[in-house]
Amino acid sequence: MSRTSARSRDAGAVDRRALMPTYADPPVTFARGAGSRLYDTAGRPYLDFISGIAVTSLGHSHPVVAEAVAAQARTLSHVSNLYGNTLGPQVAATLDRLVGGGSDRAGGQVFFANSGAEANECALKLARRWAGPDRFEVVAAWGSFHGRTLATLAATGQPTKHAPFLPLPEGFTHVPYDDLPALEEALGTGRVAAVILEPILGEGGVVVPAPDYLAGVRALCTEHRALLILDEIQTGLGRTGHWFAFQAAHVEPDVVTTAKALGNGMPVGACWARSDVAAAFVPGDHGSTFGGQPLAMAAARATLEVMEREDVCARAVRAGERLTAGLTGLPLVRGVRGAGLLLAAELDGPVAAALAAGALSRGLLVNAVRPDAVRIAPSLLVTDDEIDEALAVLAGVLATVPTEPPAAIEPGLPSRGGAPSVTEVAP
Ligand SMILES: Cc1ncc(COP(=O)(O)O)c(C=O)c1O
Repeated sequence: MSRTSARSRDAGAVDRRALMPTYADPPVTFARGAGSRLYDTAGRPYLDFISGIAVTSLGHSHPVVAEAVAAQARTLSHVSNLYGNTLGPQVAATLDRLVGGGSDRAGGQVFFANSGAEANECALKLARRWAGPDRFEVVAAWGSFHGRTLATLAATGQPTKHAPFLPLPEGFTHVPYDDLPALEEALGTGRVAAVILEPILGEGGVVVPAPDYLAGVRALCTEHRALLILDEIQTGLGRTGHWFAFQAAHVEPDVVTTAKALGNGMPVGACWARSDVAAAFVPGDHGSTFGGQPLAMAAARATLEVMEREDVCARAVRAGERLTAGLTGLPLVRGVRGAGLLLAAELDGPVAAALAAGALSRGLLVNAVRPDAVRIAPSLLVTDDEIDEALAVLAGVLATVPTEPPAAIEPGLPSRGGAPSVTEVAP
């Protein structure tokens, strides 16, 4: 039976029947990209203001990253973890310096994986190894998203995502996000190895906690001898105007995970931990065939070099201010939340799907992250002209958007990538 849907503008362009039905039929199929532009199979251009969900932070096909990957592919792609390569240790040292704020090494160690979920899987295993068999619990937040493997799904605070896969691995509990008394109570069992949190909820709707929340979490974790794992898979690497979002809160996490932007589109994930925590692992405890291989590391090294050279943190702050100011004046926009270039326009009513669909039809990609919020995450190298162009498209769509979502693109469709659907974040 065909899964082709009427809502797919180009459903006939590519036969997807050999793909498992984990994603909704895409509204458009892309063939190439350059900078902030994507081009569909008919050659039509789109301005990309979601960046593959905060992945292509340097834009599509960045020439330095593309050349690094091509050159490495011609030189050495893979040797396995039975042997060493020269690039992994360099990228680990750079990441450690960026966790330390950019100038000085933080004094931690890195495990390389291939995705965000795997980076978190490493963090969760490390926490259990560090804490020992009697303290195996992990506390996470309702509304969070940490991945799709069984353990990271268990950490994810979305019961509707859990339901089809019960029973999940045991030992995961959830508390409301941005609620210190609830966290304190959860830590009271004395069995908690770690707390895992996003500094800003990404898939949960770009939700920014109170300014003192992370510092409060840090203090509670220290008091209860639990590790603080910060999931910076979406927020990390300049996206929020800092190398890592926790740096705005001046806290020191024990473990930091990152992925998405690390390879600018090449699949790379990383789990950083303070060295005394990382020391809980011994050879044989964890591993990955592809993790840290030369090809992925060449992409990560080039990406981080360009990010530092281009001062992406400062650029994200500046561009984020321009975007926020422009969004603030638009019809139906109640407010703008987020940080740097991870933003959500809060809308007057459940019109996000209609806005995203209208924008798409005018060649602009944004994401309906909640029924009443559109997520905007352009390249960190986005230009002022591109921002103004996107704002003009959004203004045009908002002037005509129906107050009810269109029948063709309902909120709650199964989502693409790691993202939960817009209706699936409440506990
Ligand atoms: C905060 C966060 N953690 C983990 C993940 C999972 O990453 P991946 O899809 O690469 O496994 C995501 C993906 O959206 C994310 O936003």
